[in-house]
Amino acid sequence: MNILILGSGGREHALAWAVKQNPKTDRLIVAPGNAGIAMLAECADFDILDGAAVVAFCEGNAIDFVIVGPEAPLAAGVADAARAAGFLTFGPSAEAAKLEASKGFTKEICDACGAPTAAYARFTQAAAAKDYIRAQGAPIVVKADGLAAGKGVIVAATEAEALAAIDDMFGGEFGAAGAEVVIEEFMTGEEASFFVLTDGVHALPIGTAQDHKRVGDGDTGPNTGGMGAYSPAPVLTDAIAQRAMTEIVLPTIAEMARRGTPYQGVLYAGLMIKDGQGRLVEYNARFGDPETQVLMMRLGAQALDLLLACAEGRLDKAQVNWADDHAITVVMAANGYPGAYQKGSVIDGLERMPEDSRHMVFHAGTALKDGQITANGGRVLNITARGDSLADARNRAYAMIDLLHWPEGFCRSDIGWRAL
Ligand code: AMP
Ligand code: GLY
Repeated sequence: MNILILGSGGREHALAWAVKQNPKTDRLIVAPGNAGIAMLAECADFDILDGAAVVAFCEGNAIDFVIVGPEAPLAAGVADAARAAGFLTFGPSAEAAKLEASKGFTKEICDACGAPTAAYARFTQAAAAKDYIRAQGAPIVVKADGLAAGKGVIVAATEAEALAAIDDMFGGEFGAAGAEVVIEEFMTGEEASFFVLTDGVHALPIGTAQDHKRVGDGDTGPNTGGMGAYSPAPVLTDAIAQRAMTEIVLPTIAEMARRGTPYQGVLYAGLMIKDGQGRLVEYNARFGDPETQVLMMRLGAQALDLLLACAEGRLDKAQVNWADDHAITVVMAANGYPGAYQKGSVIDGLERMPEDSRHMVFHAGTALKDGQITANGGRVLNITARGDSLADARNRAYAMIDLLHWPEGFCRSDIGWRAL
């Protein structure tokens, strides 16, 4: 098969790495890709938010299967365009991707199907939103309704902070994404991510993970896109996962189908776990980044078979072959991230890194310049390892980092601490 993956981060490098190992793969093309992806696949450059451009590329390159990585092309209807043109595609329609693109919509679905989640209210006017905050008190959570690159959620410890968030959102800080806000009850517990493939009817859990959102050791400092992750997440026990399937995921899938907008792709449920139950924090309509790096490290080549079964509507006949293993990924970021950082520094030592069934470096934001790998983003590398225990995987990952020479970058030294 000729396979096209859309995206350019560590998530897409991990997907490409797994797909490439499957004997079904003939040509593998990633658009736009990055310097690491270019070592195992062809990279192509066109506008991945433009459905017509994606279709034209598929037609010109005899593509058999399209895998959409990030949320932006999904929300822009790229999966719809590819499917309408007859291309087998992994990823939800724009209507179904509203489970990520609109927090208010997700709440509406939770209400309709009885899925446990935080109590909430939706507002389009600042005055009413502020009255609600004053009535509820703090802590409280204020969210821009739309996509805001992970920055549209303010967990406010005080009423003043929540009121300021309302001014920011209605003041246009997040553009159109903030034209509506969702205000939520603050939930306590431990967060974990649950990944489920669904073809619109059937559902197949494919793994659990936990990530580390704060930039500093001990979960301190500002929020980031994720500084590391590990899989499985011990807090998401089989019993809690089973219950989340019954109470949250399956009712959501059924409600989406009932509305005539079935969800096909990976449904990534962020859960807040407490007292043996998960409550929904949010849905994402795509794989997590960096969670995919650990999921792919564990699933390997079978990932392609699972994504194909999902896109072809035969997940009821698919199954995951689980190994009793653990994977961890440590994000190396450019100094300054998640604030201002410099691009262009040279990363030395990558050639010393082992790359085999237990060790892999996924590139998140790199470029090739004059024959050298350089930093080209905030999150730059995902040092990933698989082991017989989480401690084994962690030791392997940090041993790899010791081989790297990149003074312009940093990582957290405690990825996995909660589970170790
Ligand atoms: P989201 O983008 O909705 O995942 O929100 C980002 C982060 O904010 C989550 O991963 C949680 O850590 C936190 N968060 C979101 N909603 C809530 C809530 N209702 N209660 C507590 N924490 C929350
Ligand atoms: N790591 C969090 C996310 O992908 O949304």
